[in-house]
Formats: sequence, C-alpha cells, structure tokens
Amino acid sequence: MVDRGKLEQALSCQPRSLDRKRVFTSPYNARVISPGLPSAVTVLDTTLRDGEQTPGIALSIEDKVKIARALSDLGVDVIEAGFPASSAGEREAIGEIAAEGLDARICGLARCNKRDIDAALDCGLDYIHTFIATSDTHLQYKLKMTREEVKAKAVEAIEYGKSHGLTVEFSCEDATRTDLDFLKEMHVAVQGAGVDKINVPDTVGTIGPPAMEYLIKELVTVTRVPISVHCHDDFGLAVANTLAAVRAGARQVHVTMNGLGERAGNASLDETVLGLMAFYEVGTNIDTCLIGPTSRVVSRLTGYAVPPTKAIVGANAFAHESGIHVHGVMGAPSTYEAFGPELVGVQRNIVMGKHTGAHSVRTKLSEYGIDLDDEQVEHVVEMVKKLADSGKDVDDAELVALASHILGRRESQKVKLKEFAVFTGMNTTPTAVVSIEVNGEKKIGSSTGIGPVDAALNAIKLVMGNDIHLVEYRLNAITGGSDALCEVSVRVAKNGEKTIMSIGKAIGSDIVQTSVDSTMEALDRLYCRKE
Ligand code: KIV
Ligand code: ZN
Repeated sequence: MVDRGKLEQALSCQPRSLDRKRVFTSPYNARVISPGLPSAVTVLDTTLRDGEQTPGIALSIEDKVKIARALSDLGVDVIEAGFPASSAGEREAIGEIAAEGLDARICGLARCNKRDIDAALDCGLDYIHTFIATSDTHLQYKLKMTREEVKAKAVEAIEYGKSHGLTVEFSCEDATRTDLDFLKEMHVAVQGAGVDKINVPDTVGTIGPPAMEYLIKELVTVTRVPISVHCHDDFGLAVANTLAAVRAGARQVHVTMNGLGERAGNASLDETVLGLMAFYEVGTNIDTCLIGPTSRVVSRLTGYAVPPTKAIVGANAFAHESGIHVHGVMGAPSTYEAFGPELVGVQRNIVMGKHTGAHSVRTKLSEYGIDLDDEQVEHVVEMVKKLADSGKDVDDAELVALASHILGRRESQKVKLKEFAVFTGMNTTPTAVVSIEVNGEKKIGSSTGIGPVDAALNAIKLVMGNDIHLVEYRLNAITGGSDALCEVSVRVAKNGEKTIMSIGKAIGSDIVQTSVDSTMEALDRLYCRKE
C-alpha cells in the first residue's frame, strides 16, 4: 500500500503516464506500518553544506545559488545553505541565497559560539543549525571539555540565537555514540533554552536501524520539540536509519541530493523520500517528478557523477538489457520495476548487450522511427550479440547505424554539410557560419554561441529551422593528451504533429568538427526517415 493521493499528485505531472497506479512494492510493507506514523515529515536538504564537504567539491557562489533554486523548486522545506563562519565567499553565497526569496527556508550551520551565530545573522538568515559534540570520544580528544561545559555552551548559544529572533535547530554531534542519560540531559537543557527543533546526527554512520529506532523512542520521552535525524552512510545504512528514525518518532529528515556528504555521504533525498512514501505512506513536500532533473543539475554543478547503479537516479536504475526483462517490462512494467520512472522524472532505458533479444531491438529502434521486419531484426540482434561478445558497447547511435546499414539508408544523403567555419579567440564572440544542402537546396546561416561548439550547433539549428532541437549532447574523451580523440553523440528531435527523434555519433580529434559531424549525421537520418 502506498499513499495514493501523493502518488496521483506526483504522476499527474507526467502526461505520458497511462497507468496511474505505478508503484509495485511488496504487499508485506503494509502489514508493518505502525499506527503512530505521521502523514508527512519535513525535509532539510544539506547538499550545500554537508554535501559541499564531500572531498573535491567546492561550489562557486553562482552554482550554490542555482542549486538552492533547484532544491526549492523540488519542494524541500529547509535548505542548509552552508557554514557562514567558514569563509567570506561562503557568507556571500549564503547571503545571496537568503535574498532570493525562495519558498524553502534557508538555514546556516553554526558552532555554539557568538561569532558563528553573528556570521549567520550577517548573511540575513533567520534560521540556524547549531551544534556541539557530546560523545565522550569527541569531548576527550577533540573539544577537551567536560559534559557540563558543553551543555552550558549549547544553552548559551541557543539563548543568544533566540534573543536575535532566530529559529534554532540544535544537534548533539555524534549523538549516536553519546551516553543516553547525558544525551537526554542535553535535550532537556536545550529545550529550556528555547530550541525549536533537535536534530540527532549519526555523525560517523555507526548505528543500525533497530538501534536507531530504540534511540529515537528513548529521546521522544524527554523531547517536546520536533526531532530531526541526520544519518551518514559509513555502513551503507543512512537511508535505512533515517526511515527507522521516522518510524520511531522523528519528524524531519536531513538528506542530500545524490547522497553527497562527508566520507560515504548522507542519506540521499530521493531514496529517503520514495522509501517514506512507499513503505510507510509518509508524504513530504517533494515534487517527485523533479527528482531526476534536480539530481542531474547537482551532478553537473558539483562535477560528481552519479554511480550508474545508484537507486532511483543512477543510469541503470531503469535500464533493462536481457531479452527476458525487456519482454516483461514491455508487457507490464511491474514485472521488473518497483515503480515507473516517470514518478521520479527519469526515463526507462533499453540497453543493448549480449542478453539482447528481438523485443529490445524492435522497441529501441521504434524510438527512432525505424521499423524492421522480423528477419532484419534477427540480423541486428545477431550483430549486437557479436559486438557485445567482443567486449564492445552498443549504444543507441551504433544500433541505429546497424539498422540503417541493413536498410541501406546511408547511401541516400539528404542533408549534406557543404561549408563550415568557426571564429573564436580572446575577447571575441565565438561565431560560426554553415552552408547545408537540404534535399538539394543550399541554405546558409551564421550564429554566435558561448563557445565554438555552441556557435556551430546554433548556426546549424538556424539553418535547419525552429522545429529542430538538440535534445542531448555527449562528449567523451577516448584518448588522453591535447590531441585526444573525442567521441560526440547527439540526439536531435523534430517537433511536428508528433516529435520524432534521431541520433548521430562521430569520432575525431577536433571537438568542434566532431560535434558538427555527429549533428549532421543525426539530421540526415531524420530527413531520410520514411514517415
Ligand atoms: O554529521 C554531523 O554530525 C553533522 C553535524 C554538523 C550536525 O553534519
Ligand atoms: Zn553530517
């Protein structure tokens, strides 16, 4: 059983969705739903703070603002935008985010001292997340403070924040390794100081779900303000621990996009939100249809690729290769999918490989408007298997090329590049000129762009007409060095009564020329298509 209302709402932004009941989780989940669960919890996203602490990630001010906008559009309730005391650049970024007027509330991290809280106030924030470590290990080896000193510092900081009109969320850092009596004592003390929310961090990811459930239940007995939870993934249990905490009484979850965060990362937003909905019928404010697009924005701006096998937003999460699976999914997605990809704004992908069958080939080619008879399909399947057996990936462009070859289409070129030049340099707007013959008629156009590739592709689009769109552009370096060979794949679409797609791929040492070549191949295929 899932929260149908929420799912219907999420699915309604998917015009292509035919079947609205597209969550196919185990029926046993419904048997263990506890009656005390809330109808919804709030989501605090810390991609811009804990996520930015991921080794190797350093975001520019502009990129932080872009991510904050995307997170707010996604529906997160609170964005932890950064750590104001850490640098002047960080304060500038947080200040800009706070001034954006986003729907999400913006919060900044602060240690329990006036300087950090003042830094948050200087950014124009009205919400802080203040913390101090409470486990004996941290007290002894890091803070070199007594429990009483730590408690006094926390109380003082919260009172200071409250006296400045702030919403104050407080964390006992390393809570899951803190003595339970002392942890409860801290909760009682900070409530006395007027705290608004208490977060329970599993700072080093050292707890398991049953123990998390036990701990939160214990803390509920002394806590009147909402309890939040912040889990790290050192044992791969961050999401499981977060769900366990909600089951035990937590009412806010700390998450990051793509599971970014210190060391092994934090609980990922997508898995947590979908898990809450699917297993507990607990809703959030998240527009699930925007999960895929937001994940891609964060991956692009942080430079951190999402692992292909990651649940929900990984490239393989809805990819099917074996003939048996493709056949099943085509008959009913529930056979091999836990929920439809449209629920989270990503796409199903049929992948070619040694397990490919006729169904996969036929379905994939039909996406590009190519219809083959049974014999031709068998021929393509054989070639795909041969290539896969020799260790070669067969992507969409190669599959379309195989099919085109069988159909003998490439001989009759309808779109030909006649001339092409691009001008670029320092203090010069990159400009491209192209001359293209379309069905025997020569057309010339020029355009500018943010770089030479952009200028060249803009010029081609201009010549080919407004109904042509570049849907996807992928660049891979095949060899290293400044003379590296690169591979460019493009997917173009032609809008009309129905949108038709085409794909092209080229390899070369000049990125601009290779981009043009792959685009021309895609356009030619589009024009050679029999409608
Ligand atoms: O993991 C953690 O303990 C933190 C604190 C700042 C709350 O990120
Ligand atoms: Zn953390």
